[in-house]
Amino acid sequence: MGEENGPLRLNRRALLAAAVIAGAGTAGVGGFLFAENAIGPARLTARRIVDGLQAANGFVPGYRRNHAKGVAVAGRFESNGAGTELSTAAVFRPGSYLVHGRFSLAGGKPFAPDVLDARRGLGLRVTLPAGEEWRLALLNIPVFTDASAQDFHDRTAAYAPDPATGKPDPERVRAYLAAHPKTAAALEVIKRNPPTASFATSTFHGLNAFECVDAHGTRTPVRWRLEPETTGATGASGDDQLFTGLVRDLRREPLRWRLIAVVGNRGTDPTHDPTIPWPAERRGIDTGTLVLTAVASESAANVRDVNFDPLVLPNGIAASDDHVLQARSAAYAESYRRRAGETATRQPLRVEGLA
Ligand code: HEM
Repeated sequence: MGEENGPLRLNRRALLAAAVIAGAGTAGVGGFLFAENAIGPARLTARRIVDGLQAANGFVPGYRRNHAKGVAVAGRFESNGAGTELSTAAVFRPGSYLVHGRFSLAGGKPFAPDVLDARRGLGLRVTLPAGEEWRLALLNIPVFTDASAQDFHDRTAAYAPDPATGKPDPERVRAYLAAHPKTAAALEVIKRNPPTASFATSTFHGLNAFECVDAHGTRTPVRWRLEPETTGATGASGDDQLFTGLVRDLRREPLRWRLIAVVGNRGTDPTHDPTIPWPAERRGIDTGTLVLTAVASESAANVRDVNFDPLVLPNGIAASDDHVLQARSAAYAESYRRRAGETATRQPLRVEGLA
């Protein structure tokens, strides 16, 4: 067993996870910097990132500052044991592990009409033995748009809707992309992978790299990919078409995705920059199947009060050198702190067929 598995480490992780869940403004060891200190010349903090999201996209009290529109799902992860080749994480031992999750659309508005090319999100919390958890938040795009937290913050401002038109100002967007070639290149990759018609048929990507740690302490860089087994989906129309379709699809049959660990080549495949794709021929280890069986409106009883912080990790999976992870962890905690302290002025999203 490597240093990852010592009891001290376990306790510390559990404490950190509890602090993040409580919205205490911490975010794991590295993320603390983002939460409390200045980052770079512009003094970027989690507060400023979330202020920027609120200013650009608006918000509704009690709801998430990004990916505000969403519903809760539940099911299990059926692990086939293949992931033990890379990692000691309990989730890769053969077995079935409880999953709570949330499908979402990016943006600050929990009741905005669905847009097919809005980023689709999937948050997952996998419950493991001995009090461990694995939290993930994935998107239906193959690379991320931003190489750093600063770029995320600046792009959010550059793409803020112009009050006169309700759309981003094309001149401002052009200037932003000209100054940020990594984002421009990532958007080209994204364009070549257009969204499907439903959540059920979407491929979800973890985007940021992680490190799998095996029993000898050997680390392997990975990126996660969820590949849908569902090919045909029911489809729906109207303002909530994606969510209505999800409810119909789930009522027909459980929805399934294979969890693929894409194995990076140390030295040639960048782990620190989520805008850069890894070569398509990289080996993917099929570690098992995510099976979602239930869907419900968000509530205190399910995932309303869960923070899908990507740094809540089980022993055997560690953060990579990608600083976007720490920024995410700190920003999610800040968004959580704000929403948990507010009284919601509107009932959660309810779509046809959903209690
Ligand atoms: C610097 C980069 C990023 C920032 C600042 C950021 C910020 C945020 C914030 C503030 C939230 C709301 C959290 C809450 O209230 O619980 C959120 C949600 C989310 N983000 Fe990010 N994000 C970033 C990058 C990413 C990336 C790379 C992914 C995918 C790999 C991602 C996927 C998601 C998903 C799926 C949700 C919704 C989770 C849920 O249902 O609670 N984000 N993000």
